[in-house]
Amino acid sequence: MPRQIIIDTDPGQDDAVAILLALASPAELDVLGITAVAGNVPLALTQKNARIVCELAGRPDMPVFAGCAAPLAHTLVTAEHVHGKSGLDGPVLPDPTMPLQDRHAVDFIIDTLRASAPGTVTLCPLGPLTNIATAFQRAPDIAARVQEIVLMGGAYFQVGNITPAAEFNIYVDPEAAKIVFGSGAPITVMPLDVTHKALTTAPHVAGFRAMGTHVGDMVAAWTDFFERFDKEKYGSAGAPLHDPCVIAYLLEPEMFSGRHVNVEIETVSPLTRGMTVADWWRVTDRAPNAMFMGDLDAERFFALLTERLARL
Ligand code: RIB
Ligand code: CA
Repeated sequence: MPRQIIIDTDPGQDDAVAILLALASPAELDVLGITAVAGNVPLALTQKNARIVCELAGRPDMPVFAGCAAPLAHTLVTAEHVHGKSGLDGPVLPDPTMPLQDRHAVDFIIDTLRASAPGTVTLCPLGPLTNIATAFQRAPDIAARVQEIVLMGGAYFQVGNITPAAEFNIYVDPEAAKIVFGSGAPITVMPLDVTHKALTTAPHVAGFRAMGTHVGDMVAAWTDFFERFDKEKYGSAGAPLHDPCVIAYLLEPEMFSGRHVNVEIETVSPLTRGMTVADWWRVTDRAPNAMFMGDLDAERFFALLTERLARL
């Protein structure tokens, strides 16, 4: 029985690869819908990009919903410096022809969780947590119905990528993150500590190109574009494939390792806004509320990714 998931996303080249990985794995994952949120680029572009990726995967039937256009309490901060003006810079892509759903993404999340048996739908946020937090605020009953929230966001040892203290997804909407991490729903976190180990080195990009498929060529072009920011900043050997770690966890959780610890979100200090204060060393008596990942088997990750993408 495939696992039912909702992907909440702000595409973003790495979001795009995550969506492709999920849609390439129908035996394991039943994607009920894709909800777009403002993040890497404004909502008008993230909802368009989500549809471009679905069509690239041969899934123009996938329900795609537009969600929140701005964070709960801050003005939107975007990341065109990383993802380009379109959010999917690298290759030239045709505009989507598949429709955007009329229903708001938050209503889709609420309706789906209420209509499904408790504990049977997993939420996979890949961007700022605005849609998820808004759904929990509008329908407090649904948090207890969530099977698991597997999200990309935060950092502990890697600290920050948009400020010295914070990772982008959490920084954009820290109030939303505070609501989600305080919701009581089971949470699994893919922080920069893990995603910075999923680097698309040159051999991996060559592997995408060697597929000889349109999808392989698109993913190679995206990772070629996407990596320049991290190479300049961190001197890293490739682009960190942040968001695909969420989907890889659903497919092969044993390639990851981490700790069940307390994670609190800084929402007050301008200096450390959006910091995920993870009690990794358990120095407080604060109750653990998240499985915070710290390591992954990178070779296994890329073997899975390459094998699955080659199916599309
Ligand atoms: O900090 C990395 C995260 O921010 C990724 O999800 C990337 O797509 C951006 O949303
Ligand atoms: Ca993202």
